[in-house]
Amino acid sequence: MEIGVFLTVILLAISSPFGIGAQFGEDYVRPQPRKTLAFPRRPRHSSDPQQVHISLAGEKHIRISWITDNESSPSIVEYGISPGEYTSSSQGERTSYSYLLYSSGNIHHVVIGPLYDSTIYFYRLGGQGPEFHLKTPPSQFPVTFTVAGDLGQTGWTESTLKHIDECEYDTHLLPGDLSYADYLQHRWDSFGALVQPLASSRPWMVTEGNHEKESIPFFKSGFQAYNARWKMPYEESGSTSNLYYSFEVAGVHVVMLGSYTDYHADSDQYAWLKEDLAKVDRERTPWLLVLLHAPWYNSNRAHQGEGNSMRASMEPLLYAAGVDILIAGHVHAYERSERVYDRGLDRCGAVHITIGDGGNREGLAQRFRNPKPEWSVFREASFGHGELKVANATHAFWSWHRNDDDEPVQSDQTWINSLISTGCVGEDRRRKKILLAS
Ligand SMILES: *[C@@H]1O[C@H](CO)[C@@H](O)[C@H](O)[C@H]1NC(C)=O
Ligand SMILES: *[C@@H]1O[C@H](CO)[C@@H](O)[C@H](O)[C@H]1NC(C)=O
Ligand SMILES: [Fe+2]
Repeated sequence: MEIGVFLTVILLAISSPFGIGAQFGEDYVRPQPRKTLAFPRRPRHSSDPQQVHISLAGEKHIRISWITDNESSPSIVEYGISPGEYTSSSQGERTSYSYLLYSSGNIHHVVIGPLYDSTIYFYRLGGQGPEFHLKTPPSQFPVTFTVAGDLGQTGWTESTLKHIDECEYDTHLLPGDLSYADYLQHRWDSFGALVQPLASSRPWMVTEGNHEKESIPFFKSGFQAYNARWKMPYEESGSTSNLYYSFEVAGVHVVMLGSYTDYHADSDQYAWLKEDLAKVDRERTPWLLVLLHAPWYNSNRAHQGEGNSMRASMEPLLYAAGVDILIAGHVHAYERSERVYDRGLDRCGAVHITIGDGGNREGLAQRFRNPKPEWSVFREASFGHGELKVANATHAFWSWHRNDDDEPVQSDQTWINSLISTGCVGEDRRRKKILLAS
């Protein structure tokens, strides 16, 4: 425990006095960071399920994850399409972990299905306790994603979550940095409780950021809490690691990459990515999205260049596959690019979006590099969230909403045309050359 507390104090000292409240735009005063919310500790003597969240787990299946403190509470989900009438049930697995002096509760993961599309299911966990409900995503366009990275658990996080909840979304995408527990494991529990109202009713698909690592040299390898608590469909997508995987929703193939695990050409992640991209069928999934934590195109002064090495390794593969949109977090601000490849404009490259502005306690990254690079279309240091409404195989509407005085103000918006609709997939000569070479 001492080591954990010590490291946290150091981390807090380095990272917190960030938001100086400097006025960046002309008419909008940047908000200060808000304090981490005060939560009660995990209730110890209840059998009721806690920290419920759901994720997609292969076609027509959903994984339900929750925590109990009762050792004998079974890993069972009962569910059905009418309240209180559970016509099906599934059994799953459980795990737990300890970290220094902390011991987690029993962490249950149960996959249910096959399920109908766009349908509300009612469910109960461990054979007792309250009823939850979830909505399965559609199998066809339109489909709506919400996006926010670097969430944390502050007053601003609450505001972001409220705005996400007000959007009629099908699946939430989180490009890394979830709880900002930073070695204090009970903060993973309070984060689980904070997001439960949303994450128990719509799939939350996450990838890891630097704050998930929590490694202690010679003592703790990284991602222990993250992997135990936020199990994603890596097995279902042919990956051997929870740190990278893919999934499909309606006509969208989404690849979740790991910025903090090996990505070089001889790595498992690289080999898996190549295979996964080769399997993408653009007739079935006309849209191809990638999420990762450390941005590859970033004109903010914060975290400058941190994504360069991963970009150098993997960008050719993504370009060859015709990735439409790449979403990153890490920088606590918003930025959207033109279509780019190899550090320049390219009509067949991806649109890059940095959206690490969920509201964590470190505050905003207020300083951008000047002059603005030609590839950068829109940039602003505010907390907020994004919405991606994929209308059909050719058109998607992207909007970014800042938390202006607690109201979601739509700030940036654009239609994005899919690369298949602009003749970029499978046709481009440069792309074929890269494919042959890799
Ligand atoms: C723990 O769970 C078991 C099985 O569901 C149940 O019989 C028992 O009453 C629970 N114990 C407590 C303290 O709630
Ligand atoms: C796709 O959606 C866009 C925007 O709503 C619309 O203008 C276009 O006609 C649609 N295309 C097809 C083939 O339906
Ligand atoms: Fe980060």
